[in-house]
Amino acid sequence: MKRIAVLTSGGDAPGMNAAINAVVNKADDLGIEVFGISRGYQGLINNEIYPLNTKKVQGICRKGGTVLETARSQEFRTKEGRKKAVEVLKSHKIEGLVVIGGNGSLNGAKVLSKMDSEIKVIGIPASIDNDISGSDFSIGFNTACDVVTKALDNIKDTALSFHTSNEARIFAVETMGRERGWISILAGIAGEADLVIVPEKRSSFAKVVNRIKEIIKAKNDCVILFSEGITNADNFVDQLEAKLGHRVRSTLLGFQQRGGVPTITDRILALRMGVKAVESLKAGESAKMIAIKGDSVKTELLENNDIGTGSYDYYLDMFKHKVMGL
Ligand code: F6P
Repeated sequence: MKRIAVLTSGGDAPGMNAAINAVVNKADDLGIEVFGISRGYQGLINNEIYPLNTKKVQGICRKGGTVLETARSQEFRTKEGRKKAVEVLKSHKIEGLVVIGGNGSLNGAKVLSKMDSEIKVIGIPASIDNDISGSDFSIGFNTACDVVTKALDNIKDTALSFHTSNEARIFAVETMGRERGWISILAGIAGEADLVIVPEKRSSFAKVVNRIKEIIKAKNDCVILFSEGITNADNFVDQLEAKLGHRVRSTLLGFQQRGGVPTITDRILALRMGVKAVESLKAGESAKMIAIKGDSVKTELLENNDIGTGSYDYYLDMFKHKVMGL
């Protein structure tokens, strides 16, 4: 293998830059040339491709977002779009491609890997949602949890300061995560939320309301963390207020969860995955995804199954009284 390329696609995730850095540095170690592709699959189709070297990727590990930029490409979903993508890779004599992204991007990598046997494709799971099947963790998840935990720490400070006042205080914080409650559950445990509401648990709105009343009775404040993936997440706070007859002070963390300086855990994860991706291309592998399993970095088949499980059930059951669904 003489020449490879790397792209980031879909939602950006903190740590993507460390993965790019590792791909370039490992390729340099192995005497392989690397090209960077801007703006994901769309940039590939548009021939937005340029040579990278270790100097160009210096100092990027500490940066959030992705220096290659990213995009969600409609054109790549078409056969013609994918054909153009292969032509561009061939015109640059690219023999291997590293795709860093979430579920949609990894599915794209799988499709691309079937198109031309001369182009090997390896995926690296990167998404704050941690919803990628086959890997315990995806790049960006740890940083997103860190952002949410710190926000919870701040909210707990103010909640506890009113502990003995006449007025009970209820706080509700919404997290990202798409259909999965990974961010809520881990940040909720670490940040000592009183109640975590996730899409995977089944209960009822009435039971959630009762649980909040019990918590208020016991300690006069309640900090609730809920995932964007729960039913009617947009109206959840309004419905709570109506049912409780009490103000709910809400915080929407939104896109803060997607940015910021990646944690050391995310950087190391990304560096390990980037190195493994290049080694795996060098070994002639294709249609594989780099996965972390326990303490090992492995290659897994790129699957179409897009809901990750990891050790989720363990966390869901750690504090049964704290975790509910609707
Ligand atoms: O997949 C990452 C994520 O941040 C989700 O948590 C969120 O639902 C979504 O992306 C937001 O997507 P967009 O960047 O397209 O608004």
